[in-house]
Amino acid sequence: MCGIVGYIGSREATPVLLDGLKRLEYRGYDSAGIATVSDGINIIKAVGRIAALEKKLLDNSLFGTVGIAHTRWATHGEPSEVNAHPHTDSEGNIAIAHNGIIENYRSLKQLLQKEGHTFRSATDTEVIAHLIERYYEGRDFEIAVQKALAQLEGTYGLVAICTKEPKKLVVARNGSPIVIGVAQGEFFVASDAAALLPYTRNVVYLEDGEMAVVTKDGYRTMTLDNKDVKKEVEKITWDLEMIEKGGFPHFMLKEIYEQPQSIRNLLGGKIKKNETDVRMRCLQNGFPEHVSRIDAIKILACGTSWHAGLVGAFLMEKLLKVPVTCEQASEFRYRQPVMVPNSLAVSVSQSGETADTKGAAQLAKKLGAYSMGIVNVVGSTIARMVDGGVYLHAGPEIGVASTKAFSSQVVAFSLLNLGLSHFMDQRQPLADGTKRIPDKDALKIVHELLSLPEKIERVLQTVYHKDTGDGIVQQIAREYKNTNNFLYLGRGYNYPIALEGALKLKEISYIHAEGYSAAEMKHGPIALIDRNMPVVIIAPHDSEEPESYKKIASNAEEVRARGGRIIAVVNEGDDEISKMAEWVIEVPNTLAHLVPVLATVPLQLLAYEIAVLRGHDPDKPRNLAKSVTVE
Ligand code: G6P
Repeated sequence: MCGIVGYIGSREATPVLLDGLKRLEYRGYDSAGIATVSDGINIIKAVGRIAALEKKLLDNSLFGTVGIAHTRWATHGEPSEVNAHPHTDSEGNIAIAHNGIIENYRSLKQLLQKEGHTFRSATDTEVIAHLIERYYEGRDFEIAVQKALAQLEGTYGLVAICTKEPKKLVVARNGSPIVIGVAQGEFFVASDAAALLPYTRNVVYLEDGEMAVVTKDGYRTMTLDNKDVKKEVEKITWDLEMIEKGGFPHFMLKEIYEQPQSIRNLLGGKIKKNETDVRMRCLQNGFPEHVSRIDAIKILACGTSWHAGLVGAFLMEKLLKVPVTCEQASEFRYRQPVMVPNSLAVSVSQSGETADTKGAAQLAKKLGAYSMGIVNVVGSTIARMVDGGVYLHAGPEIGVASTKAFSSQVVAFSLLNLGLSHFMDQRQPLADGTKRIPDKDALKIVHELLSLPEKIERVLQTVYHKDTGDGIVQQIAREYKNTNNFLYLGRGYNYPIALEGALKLKEISYIHAEGYSAAEMKHGPIALIDRNMPVVIIAPHDSEEPESYKKIASNAEEVRARGGRIIAVVNEGDDEISKMAEWVIEVPNTLAHLVPVLATVPLQLLAYEIAVLRGHDPDKPRNLAKSVTVE
């Protein structure tokens, strides 16, 4: 994720800024840049590691005691020097480093271009610099920043400098963290306290809707509408490693807890309450005229992304009313597949670099399919290869076992499904003239999508107690940490969740686990069940398909009759399957195709907790790679 560093004081800013950037490297980034103010604003940027930026700085020194710096993890526009921060206004008098996503940047950019502003990058951030320029009246830089920020929809943590008021840093926060480091005669700014640690442990955290003007002699904190706010200086007691992981013992746990935010990032600007429209660039202007219809959809992915693809396939086939299959990319590419004319191929990949998914996407394209991607890493190979697609904006995933990318992928399928249904209703209307997703159903989907982040927060709070260790998931983990086998069962949309729950456990705890369709259990796995076998049954109520709940309740009976120890993942208030279970994990109600997002969270936590209790490092499981770039 992007990182911000700022400095104002009496030393040369560049070494301090570089050092700060290095301390933010763990967050992941694809490019970096530094700007200082001396005679005007001078900027150096580089793609790749901080070392590349450092090398450039050897040849082009940047002088000045005031400066800002940034590590970028691309969201809008590929990783490149021109897209790297800091960004400037038309005249080069204002420079800004920004974290977050500006949702209305396209309309603002158009407006500013009409007014004569010249844009250089493809980023959303650049509009902020131009907007500040638009409002700047030659003094009170912070007032211009306030006026600019009032125009923005989206999230930001930012720091800005201006040649006309060179002894000032202006910082602001709305949804993306900013911390000010306080020292004697010098001040630091960062998006993450890790960058400040060598210089000071005294910090002021800005809250959303707050900003500050920082000079070398002090700082003033205020609201975004210029009312003074008094802030306490706090003392950092954490060490560097704890800060990198945001206070969590492992990246995996941190990323599990980031899921409400990563889903908010994905939804941001795409859907709005009480509207059925989905604003997705890949559908609005990305779908070319020659794609007149879609007669079949093929989803291609590996590992956890394949599980998300299975959920997507079930959903799309049901609602779009065309055949949809999800294939393991490695199998697809080597079995001489046939693609029917007018096929859409959707490749799903967190990294965008998985060799088999890449190969499968290439083959699908060669066979004539229109290709789309659901990818997290902006500018990755798959993202560049496909004809259009959706970025997850989940932030870098560092834990090898994928967690937050999975939930975002499931949500991306829901969005894509809504968008494709509009497109298909227009270009290939159903024979009876009805909409594939009637408006009232679309509104319900939008409503449920928007409430998902809060529901995930609820799951996290109820099932896992970080401080006391007595959450239900932690109790289950203690009970079964020494078991040799686990069975995970689910039907319908929850069948892929059974696969994903089992995969997570295998990946990081090294316990043998089988994920199975509950319906298929009687064709084999039932023979494994005895009183030593923990069986996770994923069975939240499916109001759209009540039969499915009844059927899985019968499967639970079969498990119990053979002595299996049931761990049930059910809806709040469930009174049937939970009666048969030894352990009950409750998740809030939601639409059937979004249950996977909520039901996966406790299973991620269970795998994590068991791995830790068994003494394994969940972030770096043996024999596994985060990105499998070989076949
Ligand atoms: C590796 C990772 C998994 C991931 C899979 C697919 O096996 O360990 O966590 O699900 O690759 O990766 P992708 O980046 O294509 O989603």
